[in-house]
Amino acid sequence: MAARPEDQVSEAQIAVHWREEAYYSPPPQFIAQANAAYPDILERFSEQRFPDCFKEYADLLTWDSYWHTTLDTSKPPFWKWFVGGRLNACYNCVDRHLRTSRNKAAIIWVPEPESEDTKAITYQELYRQVNEFAALLRDHCGVKTGDRVTFHLPMVPELPVSMLACARLGAIHSEVFGGFSGAACGGRVADSQSHVLVTMDGYHRNGELVDHKVKADEAVETARELGHEVDKVLVWRRNPGSYASQSPMVEGRDVFVDELLPDYRGTVVEPVSMPAEAPLFLMYTSGTTGRPKGCQHSTGGYLAYVAGTSKYYQDIHPEDTYWCAADIGWITGHSYIVYGPLALGATSVMYEGVPTYPDAGRVWRIAERLGVNIFHTAPTTIRMLRKLGPDEPNKYHYHLKHMTTVGEPIEPEVWRWYHDVAGKGEAVVVDTWWQTETGGFLGSTLPALQPMKPGSCGPGVLGIYPVIYDEEGSEVEAGSERAGNICIRNPWPGIFQTIWGQPDRFVQIYYQKYCRNADSQDWRDWPYFAGDGATQAADGYFRILGRVDDVINVAGHRLGTKELESACLTVDEIAEAAAVPVMDEVRGRAVEMYVALKPGVAPSKDIEATVAEAIVREIGKIARPKHVWIVADMPKTRSGKIMRRVIAGISNFTDVGDVSTLANPEIVDDIRHRIQSEK
Ligand code: WTA
Repeated sequence: MAARPEDQVSEAQIAVHWREEAYYSPPPQFIAQANAAYPDILERFSEQRFPDCFKEYADLLTWDSYWHTTLDTSKPPFWKWFVGGRLNACYNCVDRHLRTSRNKAAIIWVPEPESEDTKAITYQELYRQVNEFAALLRDHCGVKTGDRVTFHLPMVPELPVSMLACARLGAIHSEVFGGFSGAACGGRVADSQSHVLVTMDGYHRNGELVDHKVKADEAVETARELGHEVDKVLVWRRNPGSYASQSPMVEGRDVFVDELLPDYRGTVVEPVSMPAEAPLFLMYTSGTTGRPKGCQHSTGGYLAYVAGTSKYYQDIHPEDTYWCAADIGWITGHSYIVYGPLALGATSVMYEGVPTYPDAGRVWRIAERLGVNIFHTAPTTIRMLRKLGPDEPNKYHYHLKHMTTVGEPIEPEVWRWYHDVAGKGEAVVVDTWWQTETGGFLGSTLPALQPMKPGSCGPGVLGIYPVIYDEEGSEVEAGSERAGNICIRNPWPGIFQTIWGQPDRFVQIYYQKYCRNADSQDWRDWPYFAGDGATQAADGYFRILGRVDDVINVAGHRLGTKELESACLTVDEIAEAAAVPVMDEVRGRAVEMYVALKPGVAPSKDIEATVAEAIVREIGKIARPKHVWIVADMPKTRSGKIMRRVIAGISNFTDVGDVSTLANPEIVDDIRHRIQSEK
């Protein structure tokens, strides 16, 4: 594993190493109908065919003009795909399907309250709504090609409508996960310099109608503190006509979308023909500094990549009912609820609420009711469903042909429940490893052609060639099961283009570490550093151990330790803070915060609660720590660095390593005694 600086700790260091040798074969009835059923596809995507192999994905799209250069490597590592090509992403996801599928459901939306009716939005209806909202953005807000528009929207159909409307105009959308706080949203609004914020008054979650518009006010305020003004806040209403928020509408700034839309009824907006390399959207993710990174994705390369992987790895056919139960606020939802499935003209199911509300049968009732046959979710949800309703799937009549897991390592026994019980042993399962930055899948089995192995994601996907390096940049022997840093040797169309506004950081974080020659224009000299630890078994399958950087993946949500720590330091009484990952039975990993108080401040439960609240305020509920521990002092090196590795050892009941070099070794037993007696 990566030789980390002494004072650091990473997820991969606390990973549990499981051994798994058993293979599962895809069911014959799956193979018979699979989109990728013949091994020649592996040949078509072999290394010798790179980069032209990816034309096969680009050919799934409708281009206004064809590209002249498949891959331009003249300015590494700012790769350009399908250069010279022009297309519009909205046209590809909506207009072009009207000829054959006008009356087919593009989106089936399931509201959280079971009493509320499911809504099916046909391609024609989606076309109408997208055009009208695009007209509103353009004519009421002055949104132009290249402008950024931030959304802070929950899981409602208005979200894909807003995304596609921006894409139609060639504007760059930036959706901030609805569960993020107003402050977190405001930081992203300012970073992307969005003058328009699109939000909703409220939405249903866990049986409550949550007031969401209040967060827009905080977001505008935070952006203002950062020196950026928002001109317009567009407020969709969950139930048009009634208002679900306490927040007053600000004159001149806030408008109800449903009140304005009638002015644009029937308006058609020509889709703007965009260069393949034009940015389609930004997706912020946590990184090694306190400032989130706006990952910029392209129009042509990205759309081609998600269409191709949806076809071959999700195995979506026109007649399938496909449900990816992720949130569109994350990359999974962008790629595999909206852009991938809609580019293929499929029907994509969206669910507003929490999978375990009102009970652990909800998901399976939805599957039964809609005839879902492809299902996609994260290990945390699977662990929760297994814990709360291990036998629930047996009560419902649904049949899945295909299931996906994404976002975190899945333990073999959890995988087996997913396959045997949730999937009734009838479905093929793919464990897909990838990232916000990568646009689409990197590691997975090709469902009809490569056997499944619980606990491993599989080999690199078509056209992706992973490699494991040690800290010194030497290749870890393939198939040796030795841990190291997983990298991708080649560029691919779905890779993000840059960090919005920070090109140097982009190069430094993702490419500098293993760059062989900074002057080279040969992509072979620029492997992509994913920031994950991994091992590769003799069969070529990779097992992902977790992050090797300062990111903690809680329930599939990436949290930066620096962001967590700076949120703690907003509390007056706190002198120092350290965030460490701990293993968690349901969420995979959780965060524990260690804080030391300023001199003279007495520890109290109140301070612990204030620290947790500060994190929720600055980041969102998803970041609420599992525990806040107030300690007399932090274990430190002689140069004053906090030894997170030692703290994590105590928290996880594992070896703390050598503490003899600490400036204050006596504190280790002190903290251990205190923490371990309370756990
Ligand atoms: C982790 C989510 C193990 C990994 C699509 C990665 C996984 C981070 C898997 C990206 C998987 C994702 N097995 N770990 N199948 N998929 N990860 O950006 O640590 O939200 O770096 O993208 O999740 O999280 P992100």
